[in-house]
Amino acid sequence: MTRKVLRGRVLSFVEEPKTLDDTSSYRFIEDGAVEIEDGTIVRVGPFEGSHDAGAQVIDHRPHLILPGFIDPHIHYPQMQVIGSYAAALLEWLNTYTFVEEQKFGDETHAARIASRFFDELIRHGTTTAATYCSVHPQSVDAFFTEAAKRDMLMIAGKVMMDRNAPQALLDTAQSGYDETKAGIEKWHGKGRALYAITPRFAITSTPEQMEMAEALALEFPDCHIQTHVSENLAEIELARALYPTLMDYVGIYERYRLLGPKTLLGHCIHLSHREVELVSETRSVAVFCPTSNLFIGSGLFDYERLHQRGARIAVATDVGGGSSYSMLRTLDEGYKVLQLRGQRLNPLRSFYHMTLGNARALSLDDTIGLLAPGAAADIVVLNARATPQMALRMETVSTLAGELFLLQTCGDDRAVVETYVAGTALKSQLPPANI
Ligand code: GUN
Ligand code: ZN
Repeated sequence: MTRKVLRGRVLSFVEEPKTLDDTSSYRFIEDGAVEIEDGTIVRVGPFEGSHDAGAQVIDHRPHLILPGFIDPHIHYPQMQVIGSYAAALLEWLNTYTFVEEQKFGDETHAARIASRFFDELIRHGTTTAATYCSVHPQSVDAFFTEAAKRDMLMIAGKVMMDRNAPQALLDTAQSGYDETKAGIEKWHGKGRALYAITPRFAITSTPEQMEMAEALALEFPDCHIQTHVSENLAEIELARALYPTLMDYVGIYERYRLLGPKTLLGHCIHLSHREVELVSETRSVAVFCPTSNLFIGSGLFDYERLHQRGARIAVATDVGGGSSYSMLRTLDEGYKVLQLRGQRLNPLRSFYHMTLGNARALSLDDTIGLLAPGAAADIVVLNARATPQMALRMETVSTLAGELFLLQTCGDDRAVVETYVAGTALKSQLPPANI
């Protein structure tokens, strides 16, 4: 197979940036080459004198070449929920989300939305996502079938939910277990698919179902676990009322042994001191979803508090509570949330989160989130002059950090020039918008 060489301004993080001038946290090559063979990166270095004569060179100068973005919390059945008008989380779920998700019992609908979902990820430069499907196993099949067509590394699972939702959206403790186990056996490790055990949240799972989730987690320790916790005050109150003997909301997941290094806890906004300690000690991941938290009005994530306690933090879109597929838009809103808290999120740290940070949160940083030999050639190419106003502003930008900050503040899918998945350019192959 011909070697492919992407030429451009290559940027890849190696560590979490401590400060805005922490140049040891990343590798940047002004005229760089990323060499790809069979979907894998085989060399990263200066362009001059690098590749063999037969290589196909794709010149992306003056654009930036980074690892593909990673979205560690998103709901594909909520594509048609984005922008739903509600006062708060539980109303939003009951009025819109639980209505929309019922449609995913229909395989044709699930397949159509799955296809559009991957189009959107690619359009926005996202190459891996941890995704919630609906309660229906066929929604998982539609999802992974479409992911396989595009050779994308995806984590997903059917939501387990056996109470507090419309009947058509409920499984049972037993069927939730059986269907999850069947999904793991069918999909986990097949190609680039990874199955996540997905009890939706404590409110929609009975203690019996939580026991089944615990059994699955013990049986399949290799699988991720994803759920929601401590997003909204009314939600917390209800969760605690449903598990009155337990200490707190995170304590519910502790009780059923669902915390650990492969556990992704969506939101983590209103945590007690004990809960922060638990998240940190168990190496679970607190997933910050800024556009969702602002849109639904859930609260302001306390990044510094969790970070100081050593908790692992990821940043995600949470579409359709979240309002954008773009990790650039997401980190821009994340920046604003922290501004309101009197905290700082520097642009190096933001781009670390979108790439290596989120890969580490998913324990996948040996494969994705970095540009290095042996890593998957999942890559995004970014143009900081994508719009007239960005081009004008770039006239006064003189540093890499400044360019990244402009991309974050003003960028969206228009700034994504190309998205490569396993070495194949997919964004330029997308069908024209079918409106
Ligand atoms: N909590 C339980 N389910 C959901 C969901 O679909 N979205 C959000 N934002 N929070 C949840
Ligand atoms: Zn969510």
